[in-house]
Amino acid sequence: MFDAIAGRYDLMNRVMTLGQDQRWRRFVVGCSGSAEGGWLLDLATGTGDIAALLQQRHPQGQVVGADFSLNMLAEARRRFPHRGIFWQACDAAALPFVEESLAAVTFGYLLRNVDDAQAVLQEVYRVLRPGGRVVCLDTTPPAKNLLYPLLHGYFHYAIPLLGRLLANDASAYSYLTTSTMDFYSAEELAGLFRQAGFGAVGYRKFMLGTIAVHWGEK
Ligand SMILES: C[S@@+](CC[C@H](N)C(=O)[O-])C[C@H]1O[C@@H](n2cnc3c(N)ncnc32)[C@H](O)[C@@H]1O
Repeated sequence: MFDAIAGRYDLMNRVMTLGQDQRWRRFVVGCSGSAEGGWLLDLATGTGDIAALLQQRHPQGQVVGADFSLNMLAEARRRFPHRGIFWQACDAAALPFVEESLAAVTFGYLLRNVDDAQAVLQEVYRVLRPGGRVVCLDTTPPAKNLLYPLLHGYFHYAIPLLGRLLANDASAYSYLTTSTMDFYSAEELAGLFRQAGFGAVGYRKFMLGTIAVHWGEK
């Protein structure tokens, strides 16, 4: 699915989020701590936006952008050709890095897509060095409050329609809706971070409570 939408992914992101998506990625990178010349990993890097922002913020560090979609990685390489970022094909559930080798790990819109989010968080914990930060950006199910009918309509009708019109793929974007509604609440997800061993866990919500950034420290 991600291979199929790689070419239109950025356009869809900008339109769906009313141009807010880069602001949240900058917030993610702002939570990544101080790398002190170490290695930083942006997992599920997609077309590479978070990896590029990480590299800007940590010019002394070495940034790896990793993803299991080769088409996404090709887009990332095309968009950021001269940045010195290492692009790596790999599965988030089996990271090709040794224990305690990374200063920070970020990921945008990954956990909602994996079979076992807890296993991925444990794998991230394994490769982070002590004091290293994890920062996660994802959609989060909206609370059932006064805004819910509006958000329900946006997720169930507007997003699949935009997916059909802009990315020629309504099903990929219907999947975004169902996977968001079925995902952990922000509080439950914070619990998974703690279970994986992370301390100083926190989160902040954006976009009327439909986006959450979680962070933690090893
Ligand atoms: C919605 S895109 C997010 C891209 C980017 N992080 C961003 O901020 O826009 C999700 C990405 O996660 C990748 N992905 C999903 N499951 C993965 C896994 N198990 N291992 C590695 N990458 C994965 C997909 O290939 C896709 O590029």
